[in-house]
Amino acid sequence: MNEPAKLMWWQGSVVPSGDTALTLANHSLHYGLCVFEGISAFPSAEGGHHVFRLEEHMTRFAESCRLVGISLAQSPAELAAACHETLTANGLRRAYLRPIAFLGDGVLGLAPPGAEAQVAVLAFDVSSFDSVIRAQRPRLTLSSVARLSPHAFPTKAKVSAGYLGSRTAWTDARRRGYDDALLLDDTGFVAECTVQNVFGVRGRTLLVPDSPAALDGITVASVIEIAGGLGYEVDRSPLPAADLAACDALCVASTAGGVRPVQCLDDTVFDTDNAVVAEIVRDYRQAELGLLPGHERWAARP
Ligand SMILES: Cc1ncc(COP(=O)(O)O)c(C=O)c1O
Repeated sequence: MNEPAKLMWWQGSVVPSGDTALTLANHSLHYGLCVFEGISAFPSAEGGHHVFRLEEHMTRFAESCRLVGISLAQSPAELAAACHETLTANGLRRAYLRPIAFLGDGVLGLAPPGAEAQVAVLAFDVSSFDSVIRAQRPRLTLSSVARLSPHAFPTKAKVSAGYLGSRTAWTDARRRGYDDALLLDDTGFVAECTVQNVFGVRGRTLLVPDSPAALDGITVASVIEIAGGLGYEVDRSPLPAADLAACDALCVASTAGGVRPVQCLDDTVFDTDNAVVAEIVRDYRQAELGLLPGHERWAARP
């Protein structure tokens, strides 16, 4: 998945990927100011593609830009159209889309370059990774890295600067033989993993951490809606890490990985065959494919 598809959307046109003429005086490169999204596209029944929860992703993209002071020339609807255009131009159906917005060249210093953001949409063919990633049952470790406080950083913005902590925690977890790290917030409550949200299952109740330090994930929001439809309780409140030991199952949730049961958090082992989780995973998958009754609108067609 590392190579982007041949063509990307760049400032209003479809061009060869990499055709951007960035320079090393780029303001966003120096100061961590690149807003981005990660979005999944799937083959549609009609032979084309649809994009899962595209409107919600483009709304979050626009909000992230506002939160960090990046001015976008395009509306969320125009950028949604750009996503479709990128997929169609590359003939991709099962793909990962990465819209990015960043500022151009500036003089050294924090004064932002005046111009509007530069925007691109990259596409990646993930057709051969999907089943491998979704079958993984991650092993987590509690990280010593805390998520940044919302008083120190706009935590609801999906912006590159926020991923420094994720990378540090992820690298440490991998070095210690785990797949990913679970991060607490600066008040000690469960926040999220490095690039995915997390939720517990106890009996018929989903425990969804409500932390101001975590990104508002679109996958976990979908899970909450699906779980409600299946008749499960959802408890959305600050979650002490110690409470996780009482959960039957723990899951990670993200656009790229979907909903996956976790094997363990350090020494605490969880049920990866939990019946509640299995039902949620099944319905979430159906929703992604545009097949979950009542949620067909989540699958955006060109
Ligand atoms: C830090 C972080 N938290 C959570 C998520 C999950 O968000 P979503 O479900 O919208 O993909 C992501 C996804 O990229 C992320 O980077």
